[in-house]
Amino acid sequence: MRVLGIETSCDETGLAVYDSERGLLAHSLYSQIALHADYGGVVPELASRDHVRKLIPLLRELLAGAGTTLDELDGVAYTAGPGLAGALMVGAVFGRTLAWSLNIPAVGVHHMEGHLLAPMLEEKPPAFPFVALLVSGGHTQLMRVDGIGRYELLGESIDDAAGEAFDKVAKMLKLDYPGGPAVARLAESGDATRFDFPRPMLDRPGLDFSFSGLKTSVMNALNTTADYAGRPADIAASFQAAAVDTLARKCERALKQTGVRRLVVAGGVSANKLLRAQLADMVSRRQAEVFYPALPFCTDNGAMIAFAGCQRLLAGERQGTDIKVRPRWPMTELRTPAAS
Ligand code: KG4
Ligand code: ZN
Repeated sequence: MRVLGIETSCDETGLAVYDSERGLLAHSLYSQIALHADYGGVVPELASRDHVRKLIPLLRELLAGAGTTLDELDGVAYTAGPGLAGALMVGAVFGRTLAWSLNIPAVGVHHMEGHLLAPMLEEKPPAFPFVALLVSGGHTQLMRVDGIGRYELLGESIDDAAGEAFDKVAKMLKLDYPGGPAVARLAESGDATRFDFPRPMLDRPGLDFSFSGLKTSVMNALNTTADYAGRPADIAASFQAAAVDTLARKCERALKQTGVRRLVVAGGVSANKLLRAQLADMVSRRQAEVFYPALPFCTDNGAMIAFAGCQRLLAGERQGTDIKVRPRWPMTELRTPAAS
């Protein structure tokens, strides 16, 4: 089965063709980062309009690169949520209408399920069951995954997402949007031991996260440290160390609690090098394994939507001709395709 995947939930227009026999044939991505940079964050209306502008030229480029045509597609998958309502609507209208015009099935994909399954595009995919840490701009969740659609929420952030904390600290440090990569870059030249920021919720049992207190500590340090002006790199490094430490230790706790030996890390923050180094140490100590998507598929992309959609289409899931998006959509509402 050959599936076109469409991702438009936020500020990237991502398209891909995934073939269940031959794997990923091609993917194209257009990032709106430059468009939103002046505003320090994503402007929803500008995002929607830009998706409208980019989808058709990007689709042409994708099909040429994949060496395939619209007639050879067997299905269309688009991100139906969670995300920005207008941006989601652009991809959903485009995808559902294209499928209708080609007389092939369509399916609306949960964006975080896309992230979660992205490591399965790799040569050595993780087997079920695994524990997944999903860390993006909007989500920080630990899941136990027993199969496609079989997700048990183990813990999540009770306030800011990890990526959001990186983005907010970046703003405080007057770094470019998106903040995560900028903070990580600045941290490379900083002293991570200079500020002893809190590791939120590690002192309590359970697998929930909280990042807003850490963010406040960073703000206080910025306001009270007289010589901070010369040391923004130390703030970045100390913040990154605290955030990563919290994530890594909660992952270890989740592996311990479930007895599972495979960890999957996905979403934008999974690109973070310090996080990867710390998790590598942790899993080798526990004789466990950690799996990531390839770097281009850590952040938003069409390949993960094509892959997740293909699995659901193969299992018989079909979206009716109505066009629906769910800007808010808890992942725990997902079911196995056969049961839906
Ligand atoms: O998954 P993603 O592309 O979009 C969402 O679904 O949210 O994740 C974007 C988030 C942003 O908050 C960005 O700052 C963060 O991932 N991010 C990083 C890194 N690369 C991206 N955070 C820390 N270190 C990075 N290297
Ligand atoms: Zn995402």
